[in-house]
Amino acid sequence: MNRLTEALLDWYADNKRDLPWRGTTDPYRIWISEIILQQTRVVQGYEYFLRFIRRFPDVRTLASASEDEVLKYWQGLGYYSRARNLHAAAKSMNGKFPESYQEVRALKGVGDYTAAAICSIAYNMPYAVVDGNVYRVLSRYCGIDVPIDSTEGKKLFAALADEMLDKSRPAAYNQAIMDFGAIQCTPQSPNCMFCPLADSCSALSKGQVMQLPVKQHR
Ligand code: ADE
Repeated sequence: MNRLTEALLDWYADNKRDLPWRGTTDPYRIWISEIILQQTRVVQGYEYFLRFIRRFPDVRTLASASEDEVLKYWQGLGYYSRARNLHAAAKSMNGKFPESYQEVRALKGVGDYTAAAICSIAYNMPYAVVDGNVYRVLSRYCGIDVPIDSTEGKKLFAALADEMLDKSRPAAYNQAIMDFGAIQCTPQSPNCMFCPLADSCSALSKGQVMQLPVKQHR
């Protein structure tokens, strides 16, 4: 295993956040949590997730609810198309959450990131997630200044993320790099003083931590 992958998994074992969707591999719950976390911070999403799951514990319950009620449980989270898409997707499932990547990716409101998150976390399929945390950690560690919002950058980081993925532990690895980006390798005040990757981080050695990742449109 490469150094980054190994260090992230070790770090995760000690620093893993205790989150309500982490005690399960139920794809339905993972799906709900990932849709909430698309545009909502973990601290805010936490209570919404618990309330939502209490009222709509499975695909069937969500599918048979009214859209008004689903929206009521989303009240305050914003980006209400997420709730409408959740409801429509639940209705399209015929009572059972899909089990292939292609079917999951085809659900309303599910893009590349969310499909990879669901399939890796719930099914341990080897799909690497690429989100803001992943761009930041990989661009800094590897010292890559290709803009993350360019066509070239998207391709490059997707390939790099896939290369770094621990194919035998995709669920742990994907959540490790997301937590590492959220807690350790943060945008504004990364904790490089106490970072397990400090000795091999390209950006740190070149003094470029705050310059990465690069965006062309801001
Ligand atoms: N952000 C979005 N999904 C996440 C997850 N599963 N773990 C940590 N941070 C996340």
